[in-house]
Amino acid sequence: MPPDRSAAFAPGRVNLIGEHTDYNEGLALPFAIAEGVTVTAHAAPAGSPEQDLVLAAARELDERDEFPLADPQPASGWRAFVRGIVAELARAGRPLVGACLEISGGPPRGAGLSSSAALEVALCLALSDLGSRAAHRTAAGSGDTGDDERTGGEGRAVQLPRIEIARLCARVENDWVGAHTGLLDQLASLYGQPDAALLIDFRTLHVEPVPLLLGDWRLVVLDSGERHKHASSGYNQRRDECARACQLLDVPSLRDAEADADADALERLPEPLRRRALHVISENQRVRDAVAALRANNLPALGALLDASHRSLRDDYEVSTPAVEATVKRLREAGASGARLVGGGFGGSVLGLFAPHTSYPRDAREVHPGPGAHLLEP
Ligand code: GLA
Repeated sequence: MPPDRSAAFAPGRVNLIGEHTDYNEGLALPFAIAEGVTVTAHAAPAGSPEQDLVLAAARELDERDEFPLADPQPASGWRAFVRGIVAELARAGRPLVGACLEISGGPPRGAGLSSSAALEVALCLALSDLGSRAAHRTAAGSGDTGDDERTGGEGRAVQLPRIEIARLCARVENDWVGAHTGLLDQLASLYGQPDAALLIDFRTLHVEPVPLLLGDWRLVVLDSGERHKHASSGYNQRRDECARACQLLDVPSLRDAEADADADALERLPEPLRRRALHVISENQRVRDAVAALRANNLPALGALLDASHRSLRDDYEVSTPAVEATVKRLREAGASGARLVGGGFGGSVLGLFAPHTSYPRDAREVHPGPGAHLLEP
């Protein structure tokens, strides 16, 4: 890659199980998928009129944006992500240069496969790589900072630890896009591995790969056709409800309400807070059970857990919709061993697990665990 150019790819994700647990210090088991966003960044030539600007083009949308590098202002849609990433990288003290960005690919937006996190992470990797290359060119002698938690290819290091990238991207979602999401999508995109799901403990941010070897079984996603936006759906409200449940239970997070001794206090919560807390606590246990099922190669048990997760998301967390239910029904009628909505809900996609020799609907797509975000070489 020429020194004035950087490119990065970041995948979307499917969450196998563990929904709405991330902002409750719980557990989840996502994997990165093959579809993702590619960002190519060219540094503006020094002394050119563009050197203080960011010019961005979203190829599939055929839309453009232009803003001052030193002063990105709020915007809506995909522009909010680009401006937010530039602003947050600058705030984190990362070296940045005026650049021309091309954004391409990605899972469909609002389909529950984390197109937003793929965009944020790819932007973050490409822009910070471009900035550090420029800084290295000008500051002779600067070398490895000793950080061993990096994502990069062919000896080129990304200068930010993956956890920090995830946090930075989440700040963009929270403060620039208005969606009070957790770290699930970004961590899945950053830590993805072929043939593995990632057991993430959001209390410690420990990420443990769990082999996802399906043999002749298949995981598919079927789009409900209903698009969601977390900033305007009930997502933020669910998050507030969990915070309120914690206040009433007098615990820092719902993870602290898991012990049997807490059962009575949980039962005394007013509705709908009782059901919200019940979902989160039972979902953490389903994640543990899913890991055990995968380790025992018990895929029928995994299917039953997917079904149980969906029931809980539908009845207790209330994030399903008629379009999602119709999609779940189609997968079940086709013979799925388990099916559940994936992502935040209020639309998006449904995940289905199919046993060997069972055919899935034609418009469903098979998904496989793939590699995490990385810099691209020419
Ligand atoms: C969205 C959010 C995640 C997570 C899921 C629900 O994908 O971005 O942080 O909360 O919903 O599990």
